[in-house]
Amino acid sequence: MKLKKSHTCGELTIKNVGAAVTIMGWAHTRRDHGGLIFVDLRDRAGITQVVFNPAISADAHRAAGDVRSEFVLAVTGKVAPRPANTTNAKLPTGEIEIAAAELVILNPAKTPPFMIEDGADVAETLRLKYRYLDLRRPELQKALITRHKITQTVRRFLDSHGFIDVETPFLTKSTPEGARDYLVPSRLNPGMFFALPQSPQLFKQILMVAGFERYYQIVKCFRDEDLRADRQPEFTQIDLEMSFVNAEDIISLMEQLVAAVMQEVKGTDLPIPFPRLTYQEAMDRYGSDKPDTRFGLELKDISDIARATDFKVFLQAVEPGGTVKGFAAPGLSGMSRKELDDLTNEAKVFGAKGLAWVKVTDGGFESPIAKFFKEGQLKTISSRLGAKAGDLMLFVADSSKVVAESLGHLRLLLGKRLNLIDEGKFNFLWVTDFPLVEWNADEKRYDAMHHPFTAPRDEDLGLLQSDPLKVKAKAYDIVLNGSEIGGGSIRIHRSEIQSTMFGLLNIPEEDARKKFGFLLEALEYGAPPHGGLAFGLDRLTAILTGAQSIRDVIAFPKTQKAVCLMTEAPSRVTPAQLRELSIKLDIVE
Ligand code: AMO
Ligand code: AMP
Repeated sequence: MKLKKSHTCGELTIKNVGAAVTIMGWAHTRRDHGGLIFVDLRDRAGITQVVFNPAISADAHRAAGDVRSEFVLAVTGKVAPRPANTTNAKLPTGEIEIAAAELVILNPAKTPPFMIEDGADVAETLRLKYRYLDLRRPELQKALITRHKITQTVRRFLDSHGFIDVETPFLTKSTPEGARDYLVPSRLNPGMFFALPQSPQLFKQILMVAGFERYYQIVKCFRDEDLRADRQPEFTQIDLEMSFVNAEDIISLMEQLVAAVMQEVKGTDLPIPFPRLTYQEAMDRYGSDKPDTRFGLELKDISDIARATDFKVFLQAVEPGGTVKGFAAPGLSGMSRKELDDLTNEAKVFGAKGLAWVKVTDGGFESPIAKFFKEGQLKTISSRLGAKAGDLMLFVADSSKVVAESLGHLRLLLGKRLNLIDEGKFNFLWVTDFPLVEWNADEKRYDAMHHPFTAPRDEDLGLLQSDPLKVKAKAYDIVLNGSEIGGGSIRIHRSEIQSTMFGLLNIPEEDARKKFGFLLEALEYGAPPHGGLAFGLDRLTAILTGAQSIRDVIAFPKTQKAVCLMTEAPSRVTPAQLRELSIKLDIVE
């Protein structure tokens, strides 16, 4: 290419008037005004208007007649001020234009299947198939640039705090994060499979045993799980681990890291330390271990009052140790029967058997269940919920898990519907004091709440065998605006405690050795006390850029069905490839 790009399409201003420049980019739009042809030329930095005037260059004007959307062009010409009434205050380059002296069409383009512009109503499947066109949109470019800024800030911060970037294998063994593994067959070891790592958890602990003291990696993790807006089968963690520290050291350093990111990306001074909630408080007040604290609608326990009513539904729930909780939705006392039925169905998705409601009016209370309450009880309840005339009180009676999940869901739903959420807020918080294990009723065993290498609190060690559900973990999650953006813990570094933990989780010694033998053995060779955390980079970036889905901050994401529409992966392979891998398929065609 003879021509050399001298400026970006985003940087020319009135100060450059008179300069001879060469800009290169994509034809965003072309308007033919008879005598004059206008082309908006776009590159990563912005858009500059180019005017082709036959009086300046007949050749360039003729060539511009062939230009269509998304042609790749090189334009040479002089920067000129735009005529007074044609300036565009919305564009940084809106006061100038390039009077084209020369046009080179570097490459023509087929008509794109959709307009390259933000906010266009284009099906996501089409956007993902033509991802290279989708990625030309300023919004997506901005999102990926923000992602880059975040990772650069993180690298600078961690480097300056003595962290060493170490790569860990992708072809490895199953890791214990609790999702399904992606498997890779081993040609050289017929019938054997690698698992892609769900996280570098075991390797980073081994690196601590190996004496690295501070490790980090910005790394892909692979989990074959049901996908949602905030879940991808491959996603990226900012993963780190430290030796000779306690939870407070890690939490405090991570707050500084997040503050550095917020300073870089948003230009704001994030107040630290972040607020903290224990797991129990979070569940009690918000019905979630990742509460969105940008709005109220907090849940209140009314089990004590429920116990004294004549409402069977409430009585039957509290008797076996369940709870009744509720919250007041401001201004919703006018809800129709149909709307209330819809809300009830929303609660049922989370296991609630029903949704009790009471409308608070100037004259008192309106509800089909009002008759089951004794004198004054509804008044006591409404004042506990902080309900005023015009509000709607909603209640669920069930096990505390179902109550939390169903009301937690309704709280979020109504918070959004009532516009109670300030989208400009970034509420970071820590959730701490997680239980070490939870009871898995289906499998009739305890499951690790975080992962099996998370350390119990020292003061709870005595309860490990006698009352495991009471044992709290040295674990912490970081939550932003109702999304879990990271989690970590202090790990077990003594092999005898690790063995007790496996015993508690009903993992036979032999199985544990088979799966994690290398870690267990490493713990016997002088493992330092250690702990760490991993941020979900995609989630953090999505929230900071206001993206609706993490797909919008990933260059080449997969669909809900874990498919890449652009490359059409996954795909069938040839019988020869399968033979080589000693794999015989048994699927119904
Ligand atoms: P955890 O499993 O909590 O912890 O993962 C850490 C963070 O990664 C993000 N995340 C995901 N993001 C997108 N798609 C997914 N499928 C997905 N799954 C998880 C979340 C989550 O908070 N080894 C531990 C960390 C540690 O203990 O140090 C781990 O992987 O934001
Ligand atoms: P029923 O007595 O089953 O007709 O229920 C009366 C009202 O209580 C209905 O509005 C139900 O949706 C509601 N309800 C039923 N079960 C529950 C429950 N477990 N928690 C809260 N409300 C419930």
